[in-house]
Amino acid sequence: MDKKIVFITGVSRGIGLEIAKCFISYDYYVIGSSRSDYKLDEALDSDQCLHIALDTTKRDQLNDCLEQLKTHEKIPNVLINNAGITKDQLFLRMKDNDWDEVINANLTSVFNITKLFIKFMVKDRYGKIINISSVAGLMGNAGQVNYSASKAGLGGFTRSLAKEVAARNITVNCIAPGFIKTDMTNHFNNDELDNILKQIPQNKMGNPKDIAHLALFLASSNADYITGQTISVDGGLYMS
Ligand SMILES: NC(=O)c1ccc[n+]([C@@H]2O[C@H](COP(=O)([O-])OP(=O)(O)OC[C@H]3O[C@@H](n4cnc5c(N)ncnc54)[C@H](OP(=O)(O)O)[C@@H]3O)[C@@H](O)[C@H]2O)c1
Repeated sequence: MDKKIVFITGVSRGIGLEIAKCFISYDYYVIGSSRSDYKLDEALDSDQCLHIALDTTKRDQLNDCLEQLKTHEKIPNVLINNAGITKDQLFLRMKDNDWDEVINANLTSVFNITKLFIKFMVKDRYGKIINISSVAGLMGNAGQVNYSASKAGLGGFTRSLAKEVAARNITVNCIAPGFIKTDMTNHFNNDELDNILKQIPQNKMGNPKDIAHLALFLASSNADYITGQTISVDGGLYMS
């Protein structure tokens, strides 16, 4: 097998950036995407990486992304669908756009990007697909009907696709983070934070590294017999 090549969506900060740092330190060639230009080589202090400006919701940008990868002769054999957004609102006040944007960014985007690369994995008879879901998709969360639905959808997507491609030596799994310290969760006030911590048996938020290490394991041959799973990384917040 050629050098391990990983494609990570949503690489410009938070969990995606930490996954990129983790993979580059384990000798992967890292391709990262986010909507705007981003100096991934500076962030990773490496030339073994490439950033592609790509809005994962925009299907008309996909072909250009693929052409860039072909030019660099870098087609990924590991895909991490990490990009995601929230537009939180109680359901009665939730606008159509809040629903559409979250479903598009968190669920339809995963369809778009996976469709782009899976044919190469099928041809190579090798691939690892890791979808970053959320504990909200497992246990629900008031104010996050759109987000929970998108992340629960990822679970079904993962299990069905895992069944379709298992015989081709491709695994498909989900990681369901709990509360992780990133820009997505930095808006809580002290009372909200206290409330959240009370629900977490370990009584603390997680770090992006906690997610990155599991992604690295799921991408490795040590995880070859794991597919169709959703694995929580949440300090015990959700136990099924
Ligand atoms: N933080 C948590 O507690 C937590 C918990 C559960 C699940 N998660 C999930 O973990 C993933 C990463 O979350 P995070 O906390 O790291 O979020 P974050 O800090 O807000 O970063 C989100 C990343 O996604 C990118 N992105 C958003 N929409 C995009 C689009 N349409 N096209 C391309 N890139 C897009 C952003 O890049 P640009 O804005 O530069 O395009 C950014 O790099 C998400 O799927 C999130 O739902 C997070």
